[in-house]
Amino acid sequence: MTDLGAKYVAAIDQGTTSSRCIIFDRGGAVVAVDQREHRQIFPRPGWVEHDATEIWARVRAVVAGALARAGLRAGQLSALGITNQRETTVLWDRTTGKPVHNAIVWQDTRTSALCRRLGGADGPDRFREVTGLPLASYFSGPKVAWLLENVPGLRDRAERGEIAFGTIDSWLIWNLTGGTDGGRHVTDVTNAGRTLLMDLRTLQWDPAILSAMDIPEAVLPEIRSSAEVYGTAVGELSGVPVASALGDQQAAVFGQTCYDVGTAKNTYGTGSFLLLNTGNRPVASKSGLLTTVGYRIGGEAPVYCLEGSIAVTGALVQWFRDQLGVIRDADEIEPLAASVPDNGGAYIVPAFSGLFAPYWRSDARGVVTGLTRYVTKAHLARAVLEATSWQTREVVDAMYQDSGVRITALKVDGGMTRNGLLMQHQADVLGVPVIRPQVSETTCLGAAYAAGLATGVWNDLDELRAHWRQDARWTPAMAASVRDREYRNWRRAVERSLGWLE
Ligand code: G3P
Repeated sequence: MTDLGAKYVAAIDQGTTSSRCIIFDRGGAVVAVDQREHRQIFPRPGWVEHDATEIWARVRAVVAGALARAGLRAGQLSALGITNQRETTVLWDRTTGKPVHNAIVWQDTRTSALCRRLGGADGPDRFREVTGLPLASYFSGPKVAWLLENVPGLRDRAERGEIAFGTIDSWLIWNLTGGTDGGRHVTDVTNAGRTLLMDLRTLQWDPAILSAMDIPEAVLPEIRSSAEVYGTAVGELSGVPVASALGDQQAAVFGQTCYDVGTAKNTYGTGSFLLLNTGNRPVASKSGLLTTVGYRIGGEAPVYCLEGSIAVTGALVQWFRDQLGVIRDADEIEPLAASVPDNGGAYIVPAFSGLFAPYWRSDARGVVTGLTRYVTKAHLARAVLEATSWQTREVVDAMYQDSGVRITALKVDGGMTRNGLLMQHQADVLGVPVIRPQVSETTCLGAAYAAGLATGVWNDLDELRAHWRQDARWTPAMAASVRDREYRNWRRAVERSLGWLE
């Protein structure tokens, strides 16, 4: 039954493989969910694209679907929050509202050579001091530069102010608030911070980097905080304030209530992203992590994080299912892996988009190693899952080196946390407990929280902290000698993946 007097907040999570809309009540509980997938377009090895028009259609459909399931009208929503796959780059025509090219997805490696050229004698750390990021094909700025260089006539149109650039948050906010009919062209600090174009301290576009990448200012959205009213929705959500935007990983930090310095979460999606709250000052990384804005609530001081980004974790399970056809459903991997006691000596390093943290090596490619005739598909299923926990272990080690903070427990969320075998292995290889909250949809929850704070549904962070409840906890059980031997083997496997691409 719907309580007509209650306040509800909707969140859209536009992810790499699907779009979701979740409606939450004032207690932070899920009222209704709708979700739809969109096409993954692979024009060449290493290239990954999405159709931004299809994404917008899916988003509209899931919003309508969630409202229908909740039995609510748009007028009963106090606010709408947005969270999104980060770095994925859309350029569109401001007059027609049509994208000028497929969106280039964060996993796409086509800008690797461009990034090497941009680094020049300074190498990949040329813009790290200002942006917190290495020059890598992952980030949006080089993708914009590639499109301006490669789509005929685009540069002239961009210079004349006819073209808009946005990450997915911008694309959705522009469309939600009217599109060609007065849509707002904005982004938030967490998304802008993933372009390689934003100064981490001023939270503004950096003119020197724009000129180095030859990107005209006329294409850029205005950078705003993560929680404020950007505009009012039209269409299905007519009249609802669009009141938050956060990259999906930062939204998960917010939904997991990692508001204190030293708190951390790991989200297991297409990739996995471990973020550690470092407070109001950006901490520089020497160990291959990113320095990134965690969130900024209205005019308050920004909160920064150190991030370990792993490109491929859940996507390896998808590959095992779709490309190899070993399983038909992602959930089949757990019983298959559990049918054997160990990996039988096999390791899989899923360097499909090169390796991200802590290596940042676009010349790496995937390897399967340690094979003998003894190895079965069940051992490989284990190796698929273990690739996620070992990559996470490498990131946790880098966090310690950079910050001196030893994580005492890891809050986890995302689809793969349903897999108990994986979560146990994660606790085993980290040597600390792994904890999952009751609301596992923390990405949407974080966007809803930020939108609700901006519109007075919730008053402060303490109110949000009080919603967090533990659902499951895994404690380490593996002998240290086994863990250390396995970790050595993992690292030897990683060595074999590096430098594969000449
Ligand atoms: O940086 C990429 C990240 O935002 C993608 O997240 O959940 O779609 O894998 P996800």
